Amino acid sequence: MIGIFDSGYGGLTILGQIRKILPEYDYLYLGDNARAPYGTRSFDCIYHYTLDAVRYMFSQGCTLIILACNTASAKALRTIQQHDLPVINSQKSKVKNQKVNVLGVIRPTVEIVPSVTRTGHVGILATPATVSSESYVLELDKIASTLTVTQQPCPMWVPLIEAGEHNSEGAKYFIRKYLQEIIARDPMIDTLLLGCTHYPLIQPAIDAELANLGHPCRTIAQGEIVARSLANYLRRHPEYETQLQKGGSCRYLTTDDADRFSSAATLFLGNTVQAEHIEITVNQ
Ligand code: DGL
Repeated sequence: MIGIFDSGYGGLTILGQIRKILPEYDYLYLGDNARAPYGTRSFDCIYHYTLDAVRYMFSQGCTLIILACNTASAKALRTIQQHDLPVINSQKSKVKNQKVNVLGVIRPTVEIVPSVTRTGHVGILATPATVSSESYVLELDKIASTLTVTQQPCPMWVPLIEAGEHNSEGAKYFIRKYLQEIIARDPMIDTLLLGCTHYPLIQPAIDAELANLGHPCRTIAQGEIVARSLANYLRRHPEYETQLQKGGSCRYLTTDDADRFSSAATLFLGNTVQAEHIEITVNQ
């Protein structure tokens, strides 16, 4: 089973695109809504919350997990891959002769940015934790060092989306505020990367506000990029692909209220979702 993890609703924007191009697999979505947002928390906290979730999803039968969350990808992925996965894999191979893996969303996104910008000036809109990790700046520097990259933390956007307030006047205020700030810092920006999986849920409002500000630019959401990158990964890694069940199903789990999650997810995905409430407890 493929696991898709996010702090809350944001990963649904990735799941939707993945299921469009890879509908045959079984999926497990976990939103840690009870502990969202992650993006204003410390490294330690984000790492432990993410590791809890990953362990839980492995215990439910996932063999490949996508951290459909930039904050978790920026703060927890490397430590999980280098420190925790070798231990988990040595335990798993003893029991089931199975190999598991965890992938993030930052690297595949970074790869497409240089081909999109014309001015060479790119903006990254992300959570404070993703911004402070400098992951986007460092990764972009490795593949396109001539780009000018400006980051903008947007601490209010995820809480507004998680609270279902993203179409309110308050949301409009904070959308305008962060866009004005980043454009003032680099008026040459022609490409804005939505470096948080929650942000596609307000992409039309972001685009409208950019037009109002007289600064239309290309906004890039990650869903399709991550979906294509996963398809490519599965083609290159039959050792994971052949372990995946192909029943076309999707289970939705949330650490908060299941009914609330179900209605929000139904709205975001455009199809009826029935979520289950879970407590993240794993026998270590
Ligand atoms: N969707 C997460 C991301 O991509 C949001 C993190 C949060 O909970 O603040 O960064």
